[in-house]
Amino acid sequence: MKKWWENAVIYQVYPSSFQDSDGDGIGDLEGVINRLPYIEKLGVDVIWLNPVYKSPNVDNGYDVSDYEDIQPVFGDMATFDRLLDEAHKRNIKIVMDLVVNHSSDQLDWFISSKKSKDNPYHDYYIWKNGSPDKLPNNWGSYFSGPAWTYDDKLGQYYLHLFAKEQPELNWRNKAMRQDVYKMMRWWLDKGIDGFRMDSISLLDKPVGLPDVPNPDHAKYADAQPIVADGPQLGQYLKEMNREVLSKYDGVSIGEMIGSKVDDAREYTGRDNHELDMIFQFEHVTLTPNPDKRLGKWNDERVKLTDLKASLSKWQYGLNKVGWNSLYWNNHDQPRAVSRFGNDSDEYRDVSAKMLALVLHLLKGTPYIYQGEELGMTNAHNTSLAQYRDLETLNAYKEIVVDEKLVSPEKMLRFFAEISRDNARTPMQWDDSEKAGFTSGKPWIDVNPNYVKINAQDEVDDPHSVFSFYEKLISLRHQSDLIVYGDYEELDPEDGQAFCYKRHYGTQTLLVMSNFTDQSLIRDYGQASGNQLVISNYSDDRGTMLRPYEAKAYLIQR
Ligand code: GLC
Repeated sequence: MKKWWENAVIYQVYPSSFQDSDGDGIGDLEGVINRLPYIEKLGVDVIWLNPVYKSPNVDNGYDVSDYEDIQPVFGDMATFDRLLDEAHKRNIKIVMDLVVNHSSDQLDWFISSKKSKDNPYHDYYIWKNGSPDKLPNNWGSYFSGPAWTYDDKLGQYYLHLFAKEQPELNWRNKAMRQDVYKMMRWWLDKGIDGFRMDSISLLDKPVGLPDVPNPDHAKYADAQPIVADGPQLGQYLKEMNREVLSKYDGVSIGEMIGSKVDDAREYTGRDNHELDMIFQFEHVTLTPNPDKRLGKWNDERVKLTDLKASLSKWQYGLNKVGWNSLYWNNHDQPRAVSRFGNDSDEYRDVSAKMLALVLHLLKGTPYIYQGEELGMTNAHNTSLAQYRDLETLNAYKEIVVDEKLVSPEKMLRFFAEISRDNARTPMQWDDSEKAGFTSGKPWIDVNPNYVKINAQDEVDDPHSVFSFYEKLISLRHQSDLIVYGDYEELDPEDGQAFCYKRHYGTQTLLVMSNFTDQSLIRDYGQASGNQLVISNYSDDRGTMLRPYEAKAYLIQR
Protein backbone atom coordinates (compact mmCIF):
# COMPACT_ATOMS: atom_id res chain seq x y z
CA MET A 1 0.00 0.00 0.00
CA LYS A 2 1.32 3.42 -0.92
CA LYS A 3 2.00 5.89 1.90
CA TRP A 4 1.47 9.62 1.65
CA TRP A 5 5.04 10.44 2.64
CA GLU A 6 6.60 8.36 -0.13
CA ASN A 7 6.26 11.05 -2.77
CA ALA A 8 6.60 13.91 -0.31
CA VAL A 9 9.42 16.42 0.05
CA ILE A 10 10.11 17.71 3.55
CA TYR A 11 11.33 21.21 4.34
CA GLN A 12 13.22 21.70 7.58
CA VAL A 13 12.63 24.91 9.48
CA TYR A 14 15.08 25.84 12.22
CA PRO A 15 12.82 28.37 13.93
CA SER A 16 15.40 30.56 15.65
CA SER A 17 17.09 31.33 12.32
CA PHE A 18 14.12 31.38 9.95
CA GLN A 19 12.16 34.62 10.36
CA ASP A 20 11.91 37.01 13.28
CA SER A 21 8.59 38.88 13.51
CA ASP A 22 9.07 40.97 16.66
CA GLY A 23 12.57 42.39 16.37
CA ASP A 24 14.20 40.46 19.21
CA GLY A 25 16.74 38.96 16.80
CA ILE A 26 15.39 35.41 17.19
CA GLY A 27 13.09 33.74 14.69
CA ASP A 28 9.61 32.79 15.87
CA LEU A 29 6.38 31.00 14.95
CA GLU A 30 4.69 34.15 13.69
CA GLY A 31 7.68 34.47 11.35
CA VAL A 32 7.07 30.95 10.05
CA ILE A 33 3.39 31.79 9.47
CA ASN A 34 4.42 34.89 7.51
CA ARG A 35 6.67 32.83 5.30
CA LEU A 36 4.21 30.04 4.53
CA PRO A 37 3.53 31.46 1.05
CA TYR A 38 7.25 31.07 0.28
CA ILE A 39 7.26 27.46 1.47
CA GLU A 40 4.08 26.80 -0.49
CA LYS A 41 5.62 28.27 -3.64
CA LEU A 42 8.58 25.93 -3.32
CA GLY A 43 6.05 23.11 -3.44
CA VAL A 44 7.06 20.99 -0.47
CA ASP A 45 4.53 18.82 1.35
CA VAL A 46 5.74 18.91 4.91
CA ILE A 47 7.53 21.21 7.33
CA TRP A 48 9.71 19.59 9.96
CA LEU A 49 9.94 22.09 12.77
CA ASN A 50 13.01 21.86 15.00
CA PRO A 51 12.06 21.98 18.71
CA VAL A 52 9.76 24.81 19.74
CA TYR A 53 9.02 23.45 23.21
CA LYS A 54 9.73 25.37 26.37
CA SER A 55 13.45 25.09 27.04
CA PRO A 56 16.32 26.74 28.94
CA ASN A 57 17.99 26.63 25.52
CA VAL A 58 21.29 25.10 26.52
CA ASP A 59 21.25 23.17 23.23
CA ASN A 60 18.94 25.35 21.14
CA GLY A 61 15.74 23.72 22.25
CA TYR A 62 16.98 20.11 22.41
CA ASP A 63 16.69 20.41 26.19
CA VAL A 64 12.93 20.43 26.76
CA SER A 65 11.56 21.66 30.10
CA ASP A 66 7.86 21.37 29.20
CA TYR A 67 6.74 18.98 26.48
CA GLU A 68 3.32 20.57 26.18
CA ASP A 69 4.20 24.23 26.05
CA ILE A 70 5.87 26.57 23.58
CA GLN A 71 9.16 28.40 24.09
CA PRO A 72 7.98 31.97 24.89
CA VAL A 73 10.53 33.53 22.57
CA PHE A 74 8.89 31.60 19.70
CA GLY A 75 5.30 32.54 20.65
CA ASP A 76 2.59 30.65 22.49
CA MET A 77 0.28 27.70 21.94
CA ALA A 78 -2.30 29.88 20.21
CA THR A 79 0.33 30.92 17.66
CA PHE A 80 1.36 27.32 17.20
CA ASP A 81 -2.27 26.32 16.61
CA ARG A 82 -2.58 29.07 14.05
CA LEU A 83 0.57 27.89 12.28
CA LEU A 84 -0.81 24.36 12.14
CA ASP A 85 -4.09 25.62 10.80
CA GLU A 86 -2.57 27.98 8.22
CA ALA A 87 -0.17 25.31 7.04
CA HIS A 88 -2.97 22.75 6.69
CA LYS A 89 -5.02 25.24 4.68
CA ARG A 90 -2.15 25.27 2.23
CA ASN A 91 -1.87 21.48 2.22
CA ILE A 92 1.39 21.59 4.12
CA LYS A 93 1.79 19.15 6.97
CA ILE A 94 3.69 19.86 10.17
CA VAL A 95 6.09 17.37 11.73
CA MET A 96 7.42 18.14 15.22
CA ASP A 97 10.76 17.25 16.69
CA LEU A 98 10.37 14.78 19.54
CA VAL A 99 13.20 14.90 22.07
CA VAL A 100 12.73 11.95 24.40
CA ASN A 101 16.14 10.34 24.64
CA HIS A 102 16.84 13.06 27.17
CA SER A 103 15.04 16.02 28.71
CA SER A 104 16.16 19.28 30.22
CA ASP A 105 17.38 19.14 33.80
CA GLN A 106 14.64 21.74 34.38
CA LEU A 107 11.79 19.39 33.42
CA ASP A 108 9.69 18.65 36.50
CA TRP A 109 10.39 14.91 36.04
CA PHE A 110 14.10 15.49 36.56
CA ILE A 111 13.58 17.95 39.39
CA SER A 112 11.54 15.27 41.20
CA SER A 113 14.05 12.62 40.21
CA LYS A 114 16.75 14.47 42.12
CA LYS A 115 14.71 14.81 45.28
CA SER A 116 15.39 11.34 46.69
CA LYS A 117 16.16 7.80 45.62
CA ASP A 118 12.63 6.69 46.50
CA ASN A 119 10.85 9.44 44.59
CA PRO A 120 8.69 7.79 41.89
CA TYR A 121 10.46 9.91 39.27
CA HIS A 122 13.94 8.91 40.40
CA ASP A 123 13.97 5.95 38.06
CA TYR A 124 12.80 8.09 35.09
CA TYR A 125 16.52 8.83 34.61
CA ILE A 126 19.68 6.75 34.69
CA TRP A 127 21.35 7.06 38.08
CA LYS A 128 24.35 5.06 39.30
CA ASN A 129 26.01 4.95 42.67
CA GLY A 130 29.54 6.29 42.81
CA SER A 131 31.83 8.68 44.56
CA PRO A 132 33.09 12.04 43.32
CA ASP A 133 36.36 10.51 42.12
CA LYS A 134 34.97 7.30 40.59
CA LEU A 135 32.84 7.60 37.45
CA PRO A 136 30.45 4.70 36.73
CA ASN A 137 32.13 4.06 33.36
CA ASN A 138 34.38 5.76 30.81
CA TRP A 139 31.72 7.12 28.48
CA GLY A 140 32.13 10.68 27.23
CA SER A 141 29.54 13.23 26.23
CA TYR A 142 29.11 14.21 22.57
CA PHE A 143 29.52 17.75 23.81
CA SER A 144 32.88 17.12 25.59
CA GLY A 145 33.73 15.92 29.08
CA PRO A 146 32.42 12.81 30.83
CA ALA A 147 28.88 11.57 30.23
CA TRP A 148 28.24 11.54 33.99
CA THR A 149 27.49 14.28 36.48
CA TYR A 150 27.64 13.73 40.21
CA ASP A 151 24.86 14.78 42.54
CA ASP A 152 26.24 15.40 46.03
CA LYS A 153 22.93 15.08 47.81
CA LEU A 154 22.09 11.65 46.37
CA GLY A 155 25.68 10.43 46.19
CA GLN A 156 24.89 9.27 42.67
CA TYR A 157 25.78 10.08 39.09
CA TYR A 158 23.25 10.65 36.32
CA LEU A 159 24.00 9.86 32.69
CA HIS A 160 23.93 12.45 29.90
CA LEU A 161 25.29 11.61 26.46
CA PHE A 162 24.92 15.28 25.52
CA ALA A 163 25.25 18.33 27.84
CA LYS A 164 24.98 17.87 31.60
CA GLU A 165 21.72 19.83 31.39
CA GLN A 166 20.32 17.03 29.15
CA PRO A 167 19.90 13.98 31.43
CA GLU A 168 19.12 10.69 29.66
CA LEU A 169 15.63 9.33 30.20
CA ASN A 170 15.43 5.75 31.41
CA TRP A 171 13.47 3.84 28.77
CA ARG A 172 13.49 0.71 30.91
CA ASN A 173 10.97 2.49 33.16
CA LYS A 174 7.48 1.65 31.97
CA ALA A 175 5.75 4.61 33.66
CA MET A 176 8.17 6.98 31.93
CA ARG A 177 7.43 5.40 28.55
CA GLN A 178 3.70 5.71 29.17
CA ASP A 179 4.11 9.40 30.01
CA VAL A 180 6.00 9.93 26.75
CA TYR A 181 3.29 8.11 24.75
CA LYS A 182 0.61 10.20 26.41
CA MET A 183 2.42 13.37 25.41
CA MET A 184 2.84 12.13 21.83
CA ARG A 185 -0.88 11.38 21.60
CA TRP A 186 -1.62 14.86 22.93
CA TRP A 187 0.26 16.43 20.01
CA LEU A 188 -1.15 14.06 17.41
CA ASP A 189 -4.66 14.70 18.70
CA LYS A 190 -3.99 18.38 18.16
CA GLY A 191 -3.50 17.52 14.50
CA ILE A 192 0.24 17.46 13.89
CA ASP A 193 1.38 15.10 11.17
CA GLY A 194 4.16 13.15 12.79
CA PHE A 195 7.47 13.27 14.59
CA ARG A 196 11.15 13.50 13.79
CA MET A 197 12.57 11.64 16.76
CA ASP A 198 15.77 13.04 18.12
CA SER A 199 18.67 10.68 18.98
CA ILE A 200 16.25 7.78 18.99
CA SER A 201 18.92 5.11 18.39
CA LEU A 202 20.31 5.93 21.83
CA LEU A 203 17.17 5.09 23.85
CA ASP A 204 18.23 1.70 25.06
CA LYS A 205 21.50 1.60 26.94
CA PRO A 206 23.44 -1.67 27.02
CA VAL A 207 22.98 -3.86 30.08
CA GLY A 208 25.61 -3.13 32.72
CA LEU A 209 26.72 0.06 30.90
CA PRO A 210 30.10 -1.44 29.93
CA ASP A 211 33.21 0.66 29.31
CA VAL A 212 34.16 1.59 25.79
CA PRO A 213 37.30 -0.45 24.93
CA ASN A 214 39.63 2.41 24.02
CA PRO A 215 39.13 5.40 26.32
CA ASP A 216 40.44 7.76 23.63
CA HIS A 217 37.44 6.73 21.61
CA ALA A 218 35.04 7.03 24.47
CA LYS A 219 33.85 10.50 23.70
CA TYR A 220 32.93 10.22 20.13
CA ALA A 221 31.52 8.28 17.25
CA ASP A 222 33.53 5.14 17.93
CA ALA A 223 31.57 4.64 21.12
CA GLN A 224 28.39 4.28 19.12
CA PRO A 225 28.54 0.54 18.55
CA ILE A 226 28.30 0.27 22.32
CA VAL A 227 26.00 3.16 23.12
CA ALA A 228 23.55 3.03 20.18
CA ASP A 229 21.06 0.41 18.97
CA GLY A 230 20.64 -1.30 22.34
CA PRO A 231 18.98 -4.73 22.50
CA GLN A 232 15.53 -3.49 23.53
CA LEU A 233 15.33 -0.56 21.13
CA GLY A 234 13.23 -2.48 18.62
CA GLN A 235 10.77 -3.47 21.35
CA TYR A 236 10.36 0.13 22.49
CA LEU A 237 9.78 1.29 18.94
CA LYS A 238 7.21 -1.46 18.42
CA GLU A 239 5.48 -0.52 21.63
CA MET A 240 5.46 3.17 20.66
CA ASN A 241 4.08 2.22 17.28
CA ARG A 242 1.37 0.00 18.77
CA GLU A 243 0.31 2.46 21.44
CA VAL A 244 0.67 5.70 19.52
CA LEU A 245 1.81 5.86 15.90
CA SER A 246 -0.40 3.12 14.48
CA LYS A 247 -3.49 5.04 15.60
CA TYR A 248 -2.68 8.06 13.43
CA ASP A 249 -1.69 8.72 9.85
CA GLY A 250 1.45 10.64 10.78
CA VAL A 251 4.98 9.98 9.64
CA SER A 252 7.70 8.78 12.01
CA ILE A 253 11.31 9.63 11.28
CA GLY A 254 14.04 8.42 13.61
CA GLU A 255 17.33 10.24 13.94
CA MET A 256 19.68 7.29 14.26
CA ILE A 257 23.27 8.11 14.91
CA GLY A 258 25.42 5.00 14.62
CA SER A 259 22.78 2.82 12.93
CA LYS A 260 23.81 0.54 10.07
CA VAL A 261 21.83 -0.58 7.02
CA ASP A 262 20.82 -3.83 8.70
CA ASP A 263 19.51 -1.92 11.70
CA ALA A 264 17.58 0.35 9.37
CA ARG A 265 16.06 -2.65 7.59
CA GLU A 266 14.58 -3.60 10.91
CA TYR A 267 13.52 -0.12 12.05
CA THR A 268 11.92 0.88 8.77
CA GLY A 269 10.86 -2.59 7.62
CA ARG A 270 7.28 -2.49 6.37
CA ASP A 271 6.14 -5.46 8.41
CA ASN A 272 8.03 -4.52 11.53
CA HIS A 273 5.78 -1.67 12.66
CA GLU A 274 8.50 0.50 14.11
CA LEU A 275 9.37 3.66 12.13
CA ASP A 276 8.67 4.93 8.62
CA MET A 277 12.20 6.11 7.86
CA ILE A 278 15.41 7.07 9.60
CA PHE A 279 18.16 9.64 9.32
CA GLN A 280 21.38 7.67 9.11
CA PHE A 281 24.75 9.38 9.52
CA GLU A 282 27.06 7.33 7.35
CA HIS A 283 27.41 9.64 4.36
CA VAL A 284 28.06 12.65 6.61
CA THR A 285 30.74 10.91 8.68
CA LEU A 286 33.01 9.53 5.96
CA THR A 287 36.16 11.40 6.96
CA PRO A 288 36.92 10.16 10.48
CA ASN A 289 40.02 11.49 12.20
CA PRO A 290 43.01 9.18 12.58
CA ASP A 291 43.48 10.87 15.97
CA LYS A 292 40.27 9.85 17.71
CA ARG A 293 40.73 12.45 20.42
CA LEU A 294 39.78 15.12 17.89
CA GLY A 295 36.37 13.57 17.34
CA LYS A 296 34.55 14.99 14.35
CA TRP A 297 36.83 18.00 13.94
CA ASN A 298 38.77 18.08 10.69
CA ASP A 299 38.65 19.76 7.30
CA GLU A 300 39.09 16.82 4.99
CA ARG A 301 36.84 16.61 1.97
CA VAL A 302 35.07 13.37 1.36
CA LYS A 303 36.16 11.24 -1.61
CA LEU A 304 33.41 10.91 -4.20
CA THR A 305 33.90 7.16 -4.44
CA ASP A 306 33.30 6.85 -0.69
CA LEU A 307 30.22 9.04 -0.87
CA LYS A 308 28.82 7.03 -3.77
CA ALA A 309 29.56 3.74 -2.06
CA SER A 310 27.73 4.84 1.05
CA LEU A 311 24.67 6.25 -0.69
CA SER A 312 24.48 3.20 -2.96
CA LYS A 313 24.72 0.83 -0.02
CA TRP A 314 21.65 2.46 1.55
CA GLN A 315 19.78 2.59 -1.76
CA TYR A 316 20.27 -1.14 -2.30
CA GLY A 317 19.97 -2.05 1.38
CA LEU A 318 16.52 -0.60 1.94
CA ASN A 319 15.07 -1.24 -1.52
CA LYS A 320 11.58 -2.76 -1.21
CA VAL A 321 12.22 -3.44 2.48
CA GLY A 322 12.31 -0.08 4.17
CA TRP A 323 12.64 3.55 3.19
CA ASN A 324 15.47 6.11 3.01
CA SER A 325 15.56 9.72 4.19
CA LEU A 326 17.63 11.68 1.70
CA TYR A 327 19.60 14.65 3.01
CA TRP A 328 22.84 16.53 2.42
CA ASN A 329 22.60 18.86 5.38
CA ASN A 330 20.54 19.96 8.37
CA HIS A 331 20.95 22.08 11.51
CA ASP A 332 23.81 19.81 12.69
CA GLN A 333 25.77 19.66 9.45
CA PRO A 334 27.59 22.23 7.32
CA ARG A 335 25.94 23.61 4.22
CA ALA A 336 25.71 21.13 1.35
CA VAL A 337 27.14 23.39 -1.36
CA SER A 338 30.20 24.21 0.75
CA ARG A 339 30.80 20.64 1.82
CA PHE A 340 30.02 18.56 -1.27
CA GLY A 341 29.89 21.18 -4.02
CA ASN A 342 31.88 24.33 -4.69
CA ASP A 343 30.77 27.58 -3.07
CA SER A 344 33.05 29.89 -5.10
CA ASP A 345 31.30 32.68 -7.01
CA GLU A 346 31.91 30.80 -10.23
CA TYR A 347 30.44 27.43 -9.31
CA ARG A 348 28.11 27.89 -6.33
CA ASP A 349 24.93 28.14 -8.35
CA VAL A 350 25.62 25.25 -10.68
CA SER A 351 27.04 22.93 -8.01
CA ALA A 352 24.11 23.62 -5.65
CA LYS A 353 21.77 22.54 -8.45
CA MET A 354 23.91 19.50 -9.20
CA LEU A 355 23.66 18.35 -5.57
CA ALA A 356 19.93 18.94 -5.58
CA LEU A 357 19.45 16.84 -8.70
CA VAL A 358 21.59 13.96 -7.47
CA LEU A 359 19.76 13.76 -4.14
CA HIS A 360 16.21 14.35 -5.31
CA LEU A 361 16.32 11.65 -7.98
CA LEU A 362 17.37 8.95 -5.52
CA LYS A 363 14.82 6.65 -3.92
CA GLY A 364 13.54 7.90 -0.58
CA THR A 365 12.07 11.06 0.91
CA PRO A 366 14.19 14.17 0.22
CA TYR A 367 14.74 16.80 2.90
CA ILE A 368 15.59 20.42 2.18
CA TYR A 369 17.18 22.36 5.00
CA GLN A 370 16.09 26.02 5.03
CA GLY A 371 18.27 28.08 2.70
CA GLU A 372 19.58 25.03 0.84
CA GLU A 373 17.03 25.88 -1.85
CA LEU A 374 18.82 29.22 -2.30
CA GLY A 375 22.29 27.68 -2.36
CA MET A 376 23.18 29.24 0.99
CA THR A 377 26.80 28.58 1.99
CA ASN A 378 28.82 27.98 5.14
CA ALA A 379 29.32 31.00 7.37
CA HIS A 380 33.08 31.27 6.69
CA ASN A 381 33.64 32.59 10.19
CA THR A 382 37.15 33.56 11.19
CA SER A 383 36.87 34.15 14.92
CA LEU A 384 35.65 32.14 17.88
CA ALA A 385 33.42 35.02 18.99
CA GLN A 386 31.18 34.36 15.97
CA TYR A 387 30.15 30.92 17.25
CA ARG A 388 27.16 30.19 19.47
CA ASP A 389 26.88 26.39 19.39
CA LEU A 390 27.80 24.65 22.63
CA GLU A 391 29.25 21.63 20.82
CA THR A 392 31.66 23.97 19.03
CA LEU A 393 32.52 26.08 22.06
CA ASN A 394 33.01 23.07 24.35
CA ALA A 395 35.24 21.38 21.77
CA TYR A 396 37.41 24.49 21.58
CA LYS A 397 37.83 24.55 25.32
CA GLU A 398 38.60 20.86 25.57
CA ILE A 399 40.76 20.28 22.50
CA VAL A 400 42.53 23.63 22.16
CA VAL A 401 42.59 25.21 25.62
CA ASP A 402 42.73 22.26 28.03
CA GLU A 403 44.38 19.48 26.04
CA LYS A 404 46.28 21.60 23.50
CA LEU A 405 45.87 18.97 20.79
CA VAL A 406 45.62 21.44 17.91
CA SER A 407 46.40 25.14 17.45
CA PRO A 408 43.64 27.75 17.68
CA GLU A 409 44.10 28.57 13.98
CA LYS A 410 43.68 24.98 12.93
CA MET A 411 40.61 24.48 15.10
CA LEU A 412 39.03 27.61 13.60
CA ARG A 413 39.67 26.12 10.16
CA PHE A 414 37.91 22.93 11.24
CA PHE A 415 34.99 24.94 12.62
CA ALA A 416 34.71 26.89 9.37
CA GLU A 417 34.23 23.54 7.60
CA ILE A 418 31.98 21.59 9.93
CA SER A 419 30.70 23.51 12.92
CA ARG A 420 26.94 23.24 13.28
CA ASP A 421 26.71 27.03 13.26
CA ASN A 422 27.46 27.01 9.52
CA ALA A 423 23.88 25.93 9.01
CA ARG A 424 22.40 28.13 11.69
CA THR A 425 23.07 31.58 10.27
CA PRO A 426 19.81 33.41 9.53
CA MET A 427 17.77 32.71 6.46
CA GLN A 428 18.65 35.18 3.69
CA TRP A 429 15.37 36.69 2.57
CA ASP A 430 16.51 39.85 0.77
CA ASP A 431 19.41 42.26 0.40
CA SER A 432 18.25 44.73 3.04
CA GLU A 433 20.21 45.05 6.27
CA LYS A 434 20.11 41.77 8.28
CA ALA A 435 18.88 40.02 5.15
CA GLY A 436 15.23 40.63 6.02
CA PHE A 437 15.55 38.17 8.89
CA THR A 438 15.08 40.66 11.72
CA SER A 439 14.80 44.35 12.44
CA GLY A 440 16.88 43.80 15.60
CA LYS A 441 20.27 42.31 16.33
CA PRO A 442 20.35 38.70 15.12
CA TRP A 443 21.28 36.11 17.76
CA ILE A 444 23.92 34.82 15.33
CA ASP A 445 25.56 36.83 12.54
CA VAL A 446 23.94 36.95 9.14
CA ASN A 447 26.26 35.58 6.45
CA PRO A 448 27.59 38.69 4.64
CA ASN A 449 26.92 37.03 1.29
CA TYR A 450 23.17 37.73 1.73
CA VAL A 451 23.57 40.65 -0.68
CA LYS A 452 24.26 38.13 -3.45
CA ILE A 453 22.35 35.11 -2.19
CA ASN A 454 18.77 35.76 -1.09
CA ALA A 455 15.22 34.62 -1.65
CA GLN A 456 13.98 37.87 -3.15
CA ASP A 457 16.40 37.53 -6.07
CA GLU A 458 15.68 33.86 -6.62
CA VAL A 459 11.98 33.23 -6.20
CA ASP A 460 10.87 34.65 -9.53
CA ASP A 461 14.03 33.92 -11.48
CA PRO A 462 13.40 30.82 -13.60
CA HIS A 463 17.14 30.05 -13.63
CA SER A 464 17.74 30.26 -9.88
CA VAL A 465 18.63 27.47 -7.48
CA PHE A 466 15.17 27.99 -5.93
CA SER A 467 13.43 27.39 -9.27
CA PHE A 468 15.54 24.31 -9.84
CA TYR A 469 14.36 22.87 -6.52
CA GLU A 470 10.79 23.77 -7.43
CA LYS A 471 11.16 21.79 -10.62
CA LEU A 472 12.67 18.76 -8.89
CA ILE A 473 9.87 18.71 -6.34
CA SER A 474 7.19 18.89 -8.98
CA LEU A 475 8.89 16.13 -11.01
CA ARG A 476 8.82 13.85 -7.98
CA HIS A 477 5.14 14.55 -7.42
CA GLN A 478 4.35 13.41 -10.94
CA SER A 479 6.60 10.41 -11.30
CA ASP A 480 6.32 6.90 -9.89
CA LEU A 481 9.64 6.23 -11.57
CA ILE A 482 11.32 8.80 -9.29
CA VAL A 483 9.42 7.67 -6.21
CA TYR A 484 9.50 3.90 -6.62
CA GLY A 485 12.09 3.04 -9.26
CA ASP A 486 14.84 0.57 -8.35
CA TYR A 487 18.30 2.03 -8.09
CA GLU A 488 21.30 0.91 -10.12
CA GLU A 489 24.72 2.42 -9.54
CA LEU A 490 26.97 2.99 -12.55
CA ASP A 491 30.77 2.82 -12.29
CA PRO A 492 31.38 2.88 -8.53
CA GLU A 493 35.12 3.52 -9.12
CA ASP A 494 34.50 6.73 -11.07
CA GLY A 495 35.90 9.37 -8.72
CA GLN A 496 34.65 12.36 -10.73
CA ALA A 497 31.13 11.60 -11.87
CA PHE A 498 28.18 10.15 -9.98
CA CYS A 499 25.86 8.41 -12.40
CA TYR A 500 23.02 6.05 -11.67
CA LYS A 501 19.84 4.64 -13.13
CA ARG A 502 16.36 4.14 -11.75
CA HIS A 503 14.14 1.44 -13.20
CA TYR A 504 10.35 1.21 -13.01
CA GLY A 505 8.30 -0.98 -15.37
CA THR A 506 9.32 -0.09 -18.91
CA GLN A 507 10.93 3.18 -17.90
CA THR A 508 14.48 4.02 -16.94
CA LEU A 509 15.83 7.29 -15.62
CA LEU A 510 19.51 7.94 -16.28
CA VAL A 511 21.03 10.44 -13.85
CA MET A 512 24.47 11.90 -14.55
CA SER A 513 26.46 14.38 -12.51
CA ASN A 514 29.93 15.87 -12.53
CA PHE A 515 31.36 16.55 -9.07
CA THR A 516 34.43 18.41 -10.44
CA ASP A 517 35.27 21.76 -12.04
CA GLN A 518 36.64 19.98 -15.14
CA SER A 519 34.74 18.87 -18.23
CA LEU A 520 34.33 15.11 -18.50
CA ILE A 521 33.12 12.68 -21.15
CA ARG A 522 30.79 9.95 -19.97
CA ASP A 523 28.80 7.81 -22.38
CA TYR A 524 25.84 5.81 -21.10
CA GLY A 525 24.04 5.95 -24.42
CA GLN A 526 22.26 9.13 -23.38
CA ALA A 527 22.90 10.91 -26.66
CA SER A 528 20.78 8.52 -28.69
CA GLY A 529 17.44 10.29 -28.80
CA ASN A 530 16.42 10.05 -25.18
CA GLN A 531 14.37 12.73 -23.53
CA LEU A 532 16.27 15.18 -21.35
CA VAL A 533 14.09 15.61 -18.27
CA ILE A 534 16.09 18.17 -16.30
CA SER A 535 19.54 19.74 -16.44
CA ASN A 536 21.42 22.51 -14.67
CA TYR A 537 22.86 23.84 -17.95
CA SER A 538 20.78 25.57 -20.61
CA ASP A 539 21.87 23.29 -23.46
CA ASP A 540 22.76 19.62 -23.74
CA ARG A 541 26.13 18.44 -25.01
CA GLY A 542 25.39 14.73 -25.01
CA THR A 543 28.36 12.79 -23.68
CA MET A 544 30.00 15.89 -22.30
CA LEU A 545 29.57 16.83 -18.65
CA ARG A 546 30.72 20.40 -18.05
CA PRO A 547 31.88 21.54 -14.58
CA TYR A 548 29.29 20.42 -12.02
CA GLU A 549 26.83 19.61 -14.76
CA ALA A 550 23.97 17.34 -13.77
CA LYS A 551 21.17 16.02 -15.92
CA ALA A 552 18.63 13.23 -16.19
CA TYR A 553 17.21 11.44 -19.21
CA LEU A 554 14.10 9.36 -19.56
CA ILE A 555 14.79 6.16 -21.47
CA GLN A 556 11.75 4.24 -22.76
CA ARG A 557 12.20 0.59 -23.50
C1 GLC B 1 20.34 15.63 17.79
C2 GLC B 1 19.98 17.03 17.33
C3 GLC B 1 21.05 17.97 17.79
C4 GLC B 1 21.09 17.92 19.30
C5 GLC B 1 21.26 16.50 19.82
C6 GLC B 1 20.95 16.42 21.26
O1 GLC B 1 21.48 15.14 17.20
O2 GLC B 1 19.78 17.05 15.96
O3 GLC B 1 20.88 19.27 17.33
O4 GLC B 1 22.14 18.72 19.76
O5 GLC B 1 20.42 15.59 19.18
O6 GLC B 1 19.58 16.59 21.47
